[in-house]
Amino acid sequence: MYTAAITGTGVFTPENVITNDELVVAFNAYADKFNAEHAQEIEAGTIKAKSHSSSEFIEKASGIQNRYVMDKSGILNPDIMYPQLRQRSDEEPAIMAEMAVDACNKALAQAGKTAADVDAVICAASNMERAYPAIAVEIQDLLGIQGFGFDMNVACSSATFGIQAAADMIRSGSAKAILVVNPEICSGHLEWRDRDCHFIFGDVATATLVEREENAQSPYFKIRSTRCATQFSNNIRNNNGYLRRSRPDGVKDRRDMQFMQNGRKVFKEVLPMVSAHMANHLEDEGLESQDLKRLWLHQANKAMNDFIGKKVLGRAPIDGEQPNILQDYANTSSAGSIIAFSQNSDDLEAGDIGIICSFGAGYSVGSVIVERA
Ligand code: COA
Repeated sequence: MYTAAITGTGVFTPENVITNDELVVAFNAYADKFNAEHAQEIEAGTIKAKSHSSSEFIEKASGIQNRYVMDKSGILNPDIMYPQLRQRSDEEPAIMAEMAVDACNKALAQAGKTAADVDAVICAASNMERAYPAIAVEIQDLLGIQGFGFDMNVACSSATFGIQAAADMIRSGSAKAILVVNPEICSGHLEWRDRDCHFIFGDVATATLVEREENAQSPYFKIRSTRCATQFSNNIRNNNGYLRRSRPDGVKDRRDMQFMQNGRKVFKEVLPMVSAHMANHLEDEGLESQDLKRLWLHQANKAMNDFIGKKVLGRAPIDGEQPNILQDYANTSSAGSIIAFSQNSDDLEAGDIGIICSFGAGYSVGSVIVERA
């Protein structure tokens, strides 16, 4: 039995930023255009007029200020309102694979390792660009890794579930070093024309190198314990899939083929689930909340994170104890807690303990207790 360790992380951040103000200008232009085009139906009461969005609401309701995206112009064009990502030929790398390779190279560099040291790739994300071959196998090929790769999807919890899968393989000895990579093109499954959620997501890719502790060559985090839990819910759902391309009546523009959520219910139901999960995980590890130096939480909503931090710690988190990155990146699905970890963990000292915790559709919640070596 080996001990698993996180020896490197990497973040790929797209070049394009969209501020709340830019997003709201585009949305409101779209809403005005829609209302003008449907003036008669709106007047007759058969169609509801679209209301304006506002930057103030977005920041107050979510804590989000900006988001990075793979394509900005399509999203901000009121006549388009989705990312226009060129369809690549089979000879070109998938967009997800390209983002993932950048994040993986950064994780390898931090760990002082090369592709030759790695024997598996897990691509864990909330959407895959194609059905098969697995994106992970393409990433493996692009990096020149000998071994194997596979894709997995647990929506926003994909990264922590992927880390548990990797840690289990490391512990058992079936692999020596595994890249868990989370390329998230959330802009592709967001309905930018829906005021209730148009501000929620951004794009990014994160990578985590999980190795045998004995092979670590640079400062690292020992994985003390991992825990995953799921409980079925329809409150965050996307019906897109290979059997559901279009409605029987041929209408292709189906709202349910994109991200849908009942945000208020999610807020209410996920909070107790996550707080209890973290408290039980800590207790079973013989840890108390005061043993935690840091919480790296899923990045969906600031109020949600404030609540969870307070519940787990029994007091309001102090500055830096529970870092948020969603003001800059928005919700990046599975990648959020790993961005927070990657950007806010170097200062911890030997023996310091922290918890990475993600949560989302499923419902799903995954936690990883780490200790700075
Ligand atoms: N601009 C201005 N007003 C808006 C708006 C926007 N973009 N979107 C909604 N509103 C309005 C609503 O119409 C509503 O008005 P009403 O009170 O007159 O009906 C009001 O603001 C509140 O809307 P609501 O959607 O209930 O907001 P909320 O406070 O619940 O916040 C979320 C919305 C999505 C930010 C919040 O519910 C949330 O974060 N939930 C959890 C999300 C989550 O973690 N999801 C996981 C995804 S992986």
